Amino acid sequence: MRKPMVAGNWKLHKTIPEALELVEGLKKDVGDKQDVDIVVAPVFTALNAVAKAVKGSNIAIAAQNCYFENSGAFTGEVSPALLKDAGCSRVILGHSERRQIFGENDDLINRKIKAVLAEGLDVIFCIGETLEERDSEQTMEVLRRQVVEGLKGVAAEDMQKVVIAYEPVWAIGTGKTASGDQAQEAHSFVRGMVSGIFNPDIAAQTRILYGGSVKPDNVDELMAQDDIDGTLVGGASLKVADFARIVRFE
Ligand code: G3H
Repeated sequence: MRKPMVAGNWKLHKTIPEALELVEGLKKDVGDKQDVDIVVAPVFTALNAVAKAVKGSNIAIAAQNCYFENSGAFTGEVSPALLKDAGCSRVILGHSERRQIFGENDDLINRKIKAVLAEGLDVIFCIGETLEERDSEQTMEVLRRQVVEGLKGVAAEDMQKVVIAYEPVWAIGTGKTASGDQAQEAHSFVRGMVSGIFNPDIAAQTRILYGGSVKPDNVDELMAQDDIDGTLVGGASLKVADFARIVRFE
């Protein structure tokens, strides 16, 4: 009932020609696959070129961040309206690298989520605990806070445009993946949160992706979990064969 989504977050990688080469490879391999929503998130400078390249395929384009104002004196920022203009249909928000390296807090992420939804774009809303938080048994409390604060003021009808991505920070780029059971426990908790904030129907419809060292050799175990509806992939999304295998999970 929930269509799986596989999203590739290219982070700060790939020039425009490199991004086009990667997406052309993906188009050939999985571009006509209809049973999975496929998303790629290139760097800002390659967004428009990649958006043009994927036209007519089943690959959608996401940005990796944006600001919450649409225009004005905000040097260095990019707005939801400009991302739409460049060919994006989604924006990744709240990624742990934004939270940890660039100091984004729940309130800023919440403003961005509401601005992106107001522009008619979809959101991939990232949450996840650090190793220190997991070791001190604060995981569920951290997830609860991130979900409640991040979705504050989001209208129930807009939840169809929100995908949540659970990414334990200790699993990102480290080669350490959460086990299927660990991920399922967190996903089930998050779905329960969504049910409490909105209602059980919205919780049942909301897709929750897992991210953190997803690779061809662990994707099947993760996707076998009841509450894992797809994956948000970093490193392995930079190679056609690896990302295509993750899209074709079994
Ligand atoms: O957005 C993607 C995540 O940060 C996961 O990255 O697959 O390189 O661990 P990774």
